[in-house]
Amino acid sequence: MRLFVVGGGGREHALAWKLKQSPRIEQLFCAPGNAGTAELGENVPIPPNDIPGLRRFAQENRIDLTVVGPDDPLAAGIVDEFETENLRIFGPTKAAARLESSKVFAKQVMRCAGVPTAMAGIFDEIRKACRFVEKLHYPIVVKADGLAAGKGVVIAPDAESARQALYDMLEHRRFGAAGARVLIEEFLNGWECSLHALVAGDHYQLLGTACDHKRLRDGNEGPNTGGMGAFSPAAAWDQNLEKQFDEKIMRPLLRGLRDEKLRFHGLLFPGLIIQDGAVRVLEFNCRFGDPETQVILPRLKGDLLPLLESTIDGQIETARIELDERPAVTVVMASAGYPGRIEAGKKISGLEEVAEMENVQVFHAGTRRENGDIVTSGGRVLAVTALGSSLPAARDIAYSAVEKIHFEGAHYRRDIALAALPAKLGETDVASRS
Ligand code: AMP
Ligand code: GLY
Repeated sequence: MRLFVVGGGGREHALAWKLKQSPRIEQLFCAPGNAGTAELGENVPIPPNDIPGLRRFAQENRIDLTVVGPDDPLAAGIVDEFETENLRIFGPTKAAARLESSKVFAKQVMRCAGVPTAMAGIFDEIRKACRFVEKLHYPIVVKADGLAAGKGVVIAPDAESARQALYDMLEHRRFGAAGARVLIEEFLNGWECSLHALVAGDHYQLLGTACDHKRLRDGNEGPNTGGMGAFSPAAAWDQNLEKQFDEKIMRPLLRGLRDEKLRFHGLLFPGLIIQDGAVRVLEFNCRFGDPETQVILPRLKGDLLPLLESTIDGQIETARIELDERPAVTVVMASAGYPGRIEAGKKISGLEEVAEMENVQVFHAGTRRENGDIVTSGGRVLAVTALGSSLPAARDIAYSAVEKIHFEGAHYRRDIALAALPAKLGETDVASRS
């Protein structure tokens, strides 16, 4: 089988790495890929948003299956375009991907279906929005409706900052059309958890749980990033939460989508917040998470390929998903300046030594080959994942690998998975978790 992975980050390297282990994969292409995917197959210099270019490549190279990493091509309709040409592709259609590409749409679907989520007002007019925020208790959350490269959510501590965020989005169009409508949402307290589910129409199966670390610095300080590390399973996830997730979120949601005449086939990643044992949805993503993929896939036993195929074919309910009982920890190494401006082209050393380590996998994100060396080419450079007999053991192994890798200006958080340690994850009972 000839496989095509769209995207070039750590998530796509992890997908390519896992899928390449399938005995049925003969050739693998990645667009645009990175130095990590280049070791597994062939990188193709097509940007992920060039949908006609990707489609032509798939046709000319007799691709049997395309797997899409990032959100933008899904929101722009890559799946619809490929399916029109009878090209097999993993991911939701443009209409179904609106669960991620329009927060207003997602909120409306959740409301109709009775899925627990934050209360919100929806506005496209600055005066009405400003009047609304005067009456609220603070903090509140202001969200741009559309995709805003992870920057469209503002937690406003008072009315003045709420008004500022509203003016930025509705009047000054900071996010273009993505901010032409906003949600003004109640602030929810709790711990956050990333769920990954393979969804095929009316049925789904849980692939795994993880916790991301979005802030740049230790102790959850500093600006938001694409994600500085993760661990899986989410330490405090238990049978009760999983039951609620099934009964209150997934079943009503899939019924609600059917009522809207939408069929979702792909990976659904609900971002949840859990407060006093009650689960609510913060957002839906319609693709694998980054860095969640890098921490979940190393725990997946067996072949990912048939799971993706069953999802496309609507047969996910009979598939078997088995995860390694051992937890995993992923530490992201970033370039100096990230999440702001960075300087690329720094030589990376230590990768060969880490490749010899057991239970460690290094996923490349912003890397490329240059004159025989591997050099940095982006903000998030590497995601270093380790499996261990316990969460502390996985942490120790991941950090001992990170310490062997060097590039000028490298920085990373030192507290990935640390806050989870006093939580419920004992060394003996990881087996019951997803
Ligand atoms: P979203 O893109 O909706 O996931 O928002 C990004 C981040 O903003 C989330 O991961 C949360 O940390 C935070 N956030 C979003 N909505 C809320 C909310 N209603 N209450 C508290 N935090 C929120
Ligand atoms: N880790 C969050 C995301 O992939 O959106």
